[in-house]
Amino acid sequence: MNNKLKYPIGGEFWFQDEFQDKDIYNNIENEGLLLSGGESAIRFILNEISFENDEIILLPSYLCPTIVELIKKLNIKYKFYNINKKLDIDIVSIENLINKYNVKVVFFIDYFGFFHKESTRKFLKNLKLKNILLIEDAVQKFWIKWEKKFIGDYVFNSYRKFLPIDGSLILCRENESLNILKKLNSLSRYKEANDKYFKFMEKARDIKTKFISQNIGYENDYLNLFNRANIEYYKRKNILKINLKHKRYLNHFPINKFIKRREENYSYVFKQLKNMKKITFLNQTENLDDNTPLVFPILIDNRDCIKKELMKNQIYLPIHWNLENEKWINNFKNSLNISKNILSLPIDWRYEIKDMEFLIFKLKEILIR
Ligand SMILES: Cc1ncc(COP(=O)(O)O)c(C=O)c1O
Repeated sequence: MNNKLKYPIGGEFWFQDEFQDKDIYNNIENEGLLLSGGESAIRFILNEISFENDEIILLPSYLCPTIVELIKKLNIKYKFYNINKKLDIDIVSIENLINKYNVKVVFFIDYFGFFHKESTRKFLKNLKLKNILLIEDAVQKFWIKWEKKFIGDYVFNSYRKFLPIDGSLILCRENESLNILKKLNSLSRYKEANDKYFKFMEKARDIKTKFISQNIGYENDYLNLFNRANIEYYKRKNILKINLKHKRYLNHFPINKFIKRREENYSYVFKQLKNMKKITFLNQTENLDDNTPLVFPILIDNRDCIKKELMKNQIYLPIHWNLENEKWINNFKNSLNISKNILSLPIDWRYEIKDMEFLIFKLKEILIR
């Protein structure tokens, strides 16, 4: 086993020339509204929907806790519905809440970039007959245009999960509303993102790029800046438009090339880990079809120790999401268990099969100890 990585596995993204291909033009503003990130997208959508006093939004019990914080800030009433062990939506729990409350919106997540099974999607689509709106959080999926399996009245993403780019594309099912969304791109209703978050992030990515590509500077320089950027991000109060420079990046990035790399890495990891008794998959399919996952999520005992051991080998794995300290989570045992055991294996454009080999080798080495 080659014991050397070209660069660490995991961590924030940096720029690389291969991001841009001037022969490609994605014409991304023609697809929907471009804002500066998931947070702005959620603010925008909830603002468009506009809640009356007794109307509530249903949230999944497994989610990024920053979504809950935002909903609280916006003073919108919410309730959680249940998610099962495999991250499927518990339909009965949604039905019970609808019977009890004045539900205006169901917010759901395409976990790790996977669409929900057909029966769940059918149930959700039928909620429209009850005048319930669907917000589809497709943040963990890599896409730039409407996909045929989207069912949300609103669908959004966040490019910073996949690229060193701050942007979110918001789509809408209804043609008329979609045209209004597209028009908003050219109007100055919202300010362009160029705030403290954006500036810290730009600088951090620049310094990381130099560190990775030329070995100039120190890790701590960019790590501090990423931290400061993160703090500023959650101080944002307004909906912000995408920064123009980042819109340009989005228009010229070779999405198919990146998706292909992701599929190759995913498939390799699947094959290597599928017979490991100590690892449980959340996703069952080896064939990705129309799914383009953010990471390869696994469930594992002693997750925190394993994560720490891997860090000694320059492998920094994220956790999607840490919910153990959330007050409400104790009512949702499946979500709590997933949160305690989940570990995300990066499979993105930065890594080739030999990097995946290294990752799997180290993981297996720790597991058989
Ligand atoms: C599923 C999901 N939705 C929405 C968000 C918010 O996106 P952003 O971080 O761009 O605000 C996140 C953030 O991690 C997320 O994981």
